[in-house]
Amino acid sequence: MQLERLLQSQGFGSRKVCRQRIEAGDVRVNGAACRDPQADFDTAALTFEIDGDVWAYAEHVYLALHKPAGFECTHQPQHHRSVYTLLPPPLVRRGAQSVGRLDADTTGLLLFSDDGRFIHALASPKRRVAKHYRAALKHPFDEALPGKLLAGVLLTDEPAPLAALAAQQLDTRTLALSIDQGKYHQVKRMVAAAGNRVEALHRTGFGALSLENSSLPPLAPGDWCYLDKNHLALLGYRH
Ligand code: URA
Repeated sequence: MQLERLLQSQGFGSRKVCRQRIEAGDVRVNGAACRDPQADFDTAALTFEIDGDVWAYAEHVYLALHKPAGFECTHQPQHHRSVYTLLPPPLVRRGAQSVGRLDADTTGLLLFSDDGRFIHALASPKRRVAKHYRAALKHPFDEALPGKLLAGVLLTDEPAPLAALAAQQLDTRTLALSIDQGKYHQVKRMVAAAGNRVEALHRTGFGALSLENSSLPPLAPGDWCYLDKNHLALLGYRH
């Protein structure tokens, strides 16, 4: 691929901007300076350096972020900062989008990609990828709560009851809940419909990918990492 096209595809600006950066001598490819925007490179295992950072060429990017509270999953946030400010600008510019959304006050695992097939596959109700949550409850745990959530609760504007895949008491005010749909405020609404209230919500995992086992490197709130082929397999996704 031509170097100027290659840089553009990786989120470093328009073709013109990339050409200017290359001609200015700002770019190294596989460790060597290159000032020719039309130079042709094999993208397999290619690395390039720009602004002091080394990047590996990737046709698509797949990312996991530990979302902190107080961030909105949109490019035009209304009341908080955008989660996209937590990612490197080239990854946002090349089109990495979150897989679904978490509420501004919800913390935990949020995935991103610029691979539309991946986003669609994970968001699709047919694939039934489980999302795992831990919810802090306002009222003490009622023994009947897991049963109600597993049996299904009817939410306003939903044609049929929504049932949890798993629901378990963790302590007197903490519920572990897994669902495979992604309706608006679904966990909070399900818990409310079952007679309690979510005060704080954390997504611990997506499929077999979890912030709480060694499937991912340790991620503090606000940290992100790339996902590799093994991570994608844990999500049931193959290229
Ligand atoms: N369910 C909710 O209610 N909120 C979230 O952020 C995610 C799932």
